[in-house]
Amino acid sequence: MKIAIGSDHAGYLLKEVIKKYFSENDITYKDYGTFKIESCDYPEFSYKVSQAVASGEADLGILICGTGIGMCITANKIKGIRGALVYNEETAKLSRLHNDANILCLGGRMLEEKEAIQIVHTWLNTSFEGGRHETRLKLINKLTGL
Ligand code: RB5
Repeated sequence: MKIAIGSDHAGYLLKEVIKKYFSENDITYKDYGTFKIESCDYPEFSYKVSQAVASGEADLGILICGTGIGMCITANKIKGIRGALVYNEETAKLSRLHNDANILCLGGRMLEEKEAIQIVHTWLNTSFEGGRHETRLKLINKLTGL
């Protein structure tokens, strides 16, 4: 499994912590930036990671900004992306079980490092339940054309 990861300046430090977790757990990833702490614009990085997931270059994506909100808004404008703004382990789990979320959006200014790692771990280790939830995902695509 390959993970695409990206952040703006407000998510940069948490991105580095998550990359350490990936390295320690032999998880393959590609970092789409930002590569520095200076102020930058989150849509650029959300777009890059979303394209990587939508094109199949990566299996799943993780996006981090201050709140996770801007990253999530941008990601969900890309066809094929189901971005979930997650703030605890329960929403991490449900976003995979029920929504088959393929991008995890986190708030770097909202979470402790330990909480964020628990969220990432749970998210990566939970699978889509299918069934009635599959019907609902198909309905999203039918109604929105996305
Ligand atoms: C940057 O200050 C902040 O607005 C951004 O990281 C994000 O939280 C936007 O949704």
